[in-house]
Amino acid sequence: MAEKTQRIGIFDSGLGGTTVLKEMIKSLPNEDYIYYGDNGNFPYGSGKTKNELQKLTERILDFFVKNNCKLVIVACNTASTAAIDYLREKFSLPIIGIVEAGVKIASKNTKNKNIAVISTKFTAESHGYKNKAKMLDSELNVKEIACIEFAQMIESGWDTFDNRKELLNKYLSEIPKNTDTLVLGCTHYPLIRKDIEKNIKIKVVDPAVEIVERATQTLSSLNLLNDKKEKGKIIFFVTGETYHFKPTAEKFLEKEIEIYRIPK
Ligand code: DGL
Repeated sequence: MAEKTQRIGIFDSGLGGTTVLKEMIKSLPNEDYIYYGDNGNFPYGSGKTKNELQKLTERILDFFVKNNCKLVIVACNTASTAAIDYLREKFSLPIIGIVEAGVKIASKNTKNKNIAVISTKFTAESHGYKNKAKMLDSELNVKEIACIEFAQMIESGWDTFDNRKELLNKYLSEIPKNTDTLVLGCTHYPLIRKDIEKNIKIKVVDPAVEIVERATQTLSSLNLLNDKKEKGKIIFFVTGETYHFKPTAEKFLEKEIEIYRIPK
């Protein structure tokens, strides 16, 4: 039996999922969290097969189960695309996926049903968004755009790349004219949201906002919301370097973090 005092596990291939964690802390500050950044195996979005991604994410779920989690958030679009069904078959705890949340938030925001999604190569080529849209809102017309270099550039320091504007223009120019909503279909992209918004006039949506709603509903329906009064504790585990991860996450979350490196 799960208990209210157990933790929420959130994972991504690196820094990206901190954009989801930040929204979660805002809405559910009294929960305890484990953030797992699999940066030792980064990137997930290019050069890995579906099977490899399933095995990597299965290990992360095992880690969460061993570390007393009551709910898991797959805060990585690539991992959600490759493994959400696989993980739900293997594990009995509730698992919330970001692609479903992305489709939902797009469908709430679009007026003309024409949306575009920017994402990793894997998410776009596997039609992560198109496939979920078919199931959740079949009227949505989805244009998927792979921004191949973005996650890597953001993970290692977006501002240090001189060609970032050029690349942004290149990918954003692929958005069809009739599109009214753009989904940030990679959790790294909210970190460069301002730069994206400078370049386009359509509405930009971040699935993280919807994730929070789903997580809250799920926990509440299972009577698992933590009702303690004091702020929750967040512990970070990463499978790769911490020298860049730690300061970048701290800057983004505006707080000092407790972080441990574990084998990949
Ligand atoms: N943040 C991940 C996502 O949402 C992808 C980054 C990567 O390629 O590992 O898809």
